[in-house]
Amino acid sequence: MMRYTDKRVVVTGGASGIGLATARRLFAEGATLALVDLDIDGARRGAGAIDASGVRVAGYGANVADSAAVTNVLRSAEEWMGGIDVVVNSAGIIARGAIGETSDEAWRRVVDIDLSSMFYVARAVAPAMRRAGRGAIVNVASVAGSVGAVNAAYAAAKGGVIALTRQLANELSTDSIRVNSVSPGFTATPLNQELRAAGSEAAWANRIPLGRFGLAEEIAAVCAFLGSDDASYITGIDLVADGGLSAVARPDYIPAGAAMGGYQGVRQ
Ligand SMILES: NC(=O)c1ccc[n+]([C@@H]2O[C@H](COP(=O)([O-])OP(=O)(O)OC[C@H]3O[C@@H](n4cnc5c(N)ncnc54)[C@H](O)[C@@H]3O)[C@@H](O)[C@H]2O)c1
Repeated sequence: MMRYTDKRVVVTGGASGIGLATARRLFAEGATLALVDLDIDGARRGAGAIDASGVRVAGYGANVADSAAVTNVLRSAEEWMGGIDVVVNSAGIIARGAIGETSDEAWRRVVDIDLSSMFYVARAVAPAMRRAGRGAIVNVASVAGSVGAVNAAYAAAKGGVIALTRQLANELSTDSIRVNSVSPGFTATPLNQELRAAGSEAAWANRIPLGRFGLAEEIAAVCAFLGSDDASYITGIDLVADGGLSAVARPDYIPAGAAMGGYQGVRQ
């Protein structure tokens, strides 16, 4: 599949995890890419690893929670690529801890980085997409935005991303700009390396109907679909890719495939 030939794409959070895997996938499908990350060395390293020639992939440093930095970096990326057709917003941080342990500062940091950033990027990129006459924005949300699982700030920010996505889809539709989100469940990336290293992966995997964490490449495939013309009639949706986690209630005492306790159907 070469769905991204002649497409110019910005990936935030492109230095690591889902962002990096998405950049790799889109490059393989023909895209020219600007990887934007707080970790500028990581963004440049990622760009070099994907395209050693440096012709089709470049790394940029910017804090996506800083609206002026977002405007500047998108201007640079647009100049370098000659336009912007697609944005994948993957930059984000996780937060843990109960509400009593969450300071005002910690709350604001998560909301700024995980939610406000997506507003800043959409606002800054819309003019470039209007000039191109079309565009697609893919926001990486989380199942934590729909089901309580992790942390209040993270859940609120990700729920906000899903709501923001719908609003942007409505507002930008007149300019043929599609806006969708993807909600990953547990995905094996550096974001949750600590949790996996602490030995909790098997316990969580047991609650996931597909029995394992997702791969960054599996979320990248969803981002690649939503950003492509294959999704030309899709806007304003949240596509859940969580191995079934949010579709079922599976407490620890119910093993996989036995949720009905051997129930065979209606007795005659
Ligand atoms: N891994 C999961 O299980 C999971 C599940 C659901 C949603 N998500 C979401 O997926 C997205 C990507 O996460 P990941 O798992 O690839 O994590 P990751 O830590 O591997 O990558 C996140 C990237 O974002 C960058 N970043 C962080 N703050 C930034 C800032 N202020 N400005 C610019 N860049 C910044 C980091 O430097 C890093 O390169 C995040 O939005 C995360 O919330 C991840």
